[in-house]
Amino acid sequence: MTRHLISVDDLRQEARRRLPRFAFDFIDGAAGSEAGLRRNRAAFEDAVLRPRALVDVDGDLSTTAELLGREWAMPFGVAPIGLAGLAWPGMDRILAEAAQAAGAPYAASTPATATLESLRRAAPTSAWFQLYVGRSQEIVDDLLARAADAGYDTLIVTVDVPRPGRRRRDLRNRFALPLRYTPAFVWDLVTHPAWSMAAAHNGPPRFANLERYAGASSSAASLAEFQAAQSSGRLDWRLLTEIRRAWKGKLIVKGLLAPSDAARAASEGADAVAVSNHGGRQLDSAPATLQVLPAIRQAVPDGFPLLLDGGVRSGEDIVKALVAGADYVLMGRPFLYAVAARGRTGASDLFHLLRMELLDAMAQMGCRTLQELTMRGSEERHTSFGEQGIMTKR
Ligand SMILES: Cc1cc2nc3c(=O)[nH]c(=O)nc-3n(C[C@H](O)[C@H](O)[C@H](O)COP(=O)(O)O)c2cc1C
Repeated sequence: MTRHLISVDDLRQEARRRLPRFAFDFIDGAAGSEAGLRRNRAAFEDAVLRPRALVDVDGDLSTTAELLGREWAMPFGVAPIGLAGLAWPGMDRILAEAAQAAGAPYAASTPATATLESLRRAAPTSAWFQLYVGRSQEIVDDLLARAADAGYDTLIVTVDVPRPGRRRRDLRNRFALPLRYTPAFVWDLVTHPAWSMAAAHNGPPRFANLERYAGASSSAASLAEFQAAQSSGRLDWRLLTEIRRAWKGKLIVKGLLAPSDAARAASEGADAVAVSNHGGRQLDSAPATLQVLPAIRQAVPDGFPLLLDGGVRSGEDIVKALVAGADYVLMGRPFLYAVAARGRTGASDLFHLLRMELLDAMAQMGCRTLQELTMRGSEERHTSFGEQGIMTKR
């Protein structure tokens, strides 16, 4: 029997019950004291919207969004997630198919647990490829060539992982790959049979894009070390410019928080910037994305596309992001909770729920289209309400 879906938080609670602790903590956790994770949420909770009455919003409202030269059925999509198959076996493919069906983008991550080729087939018009620039330039070049061959037209380069995040929950759980069968770990598995049976059926999660480069030493242990080397501190503006030159499709730079960095990315030829702090998983003290967005909107050229992620948990949050200056929104954890809690239907139910919430909020705002919402945002940002309302004061 399908349970009625009321909120993302319900999915999170269901996922918490269904997953072994190490797996739930891996998706739910963040860097350091997790203040950054809370800050993302607090920014959305503190932001207010000014509803407008006496606008005829009867009939069909449109959630169609334009981004990077094409139309999407909704203004939100699935953020790139590494090792998603750990949260639920087959997660990458389930999310790719759900996004394709919903008419929303899905970002296939470099450390995905399914190959970028198979994910493009699962989402032939919706999938983007997300690149981590690791230590080996040869691997970067090969990943880019594979992405182009597979038909990807949009590349996300994630720039906020000079080193892996220091996530205390993972450290406490001694989470490592290959999984270590300590008594505590076995107990965690035994007490979460749904996950354990699904994992036993599918085999352990694999870094499907990367294992071919590990060569002769592709034992699970060396693969994990190898994967750690797939994010590196060597990515700089010069290298980003080279990637821009080499990649013929659209380029999104993900993980910027400083207005000057976003302006520079635009001038170096990026087609869009994703304002992101990696969901609080990298620098605990990073600012909330919603809070820095208005200043970034001012710093980039007029009409330059901005995406935002981090803490978006409802249709109303999506409206807040758009009013604060985003053209598009990505969400990470909510989709992971959805599939971990309810499998395949969880992902499509979540798309449906968010769209319904979005329509309700649009009607309250007196906006029939997202373009009207964006215009409302730019008007509000120039009023004192903008300063105290949609821009948070934290
Ligand atoms: C479990 C997990 C794995 C992630 N892996 C990646 C990744 O491989 N590449 C990337 O660019 N971002 C990655 N991110 C960050 C997300 O793309 C996104 O920025 C973040 O989840 C947004 O915050 P939210 O979870 O609050 O929506 C990951 C996030 C989570 C929770």
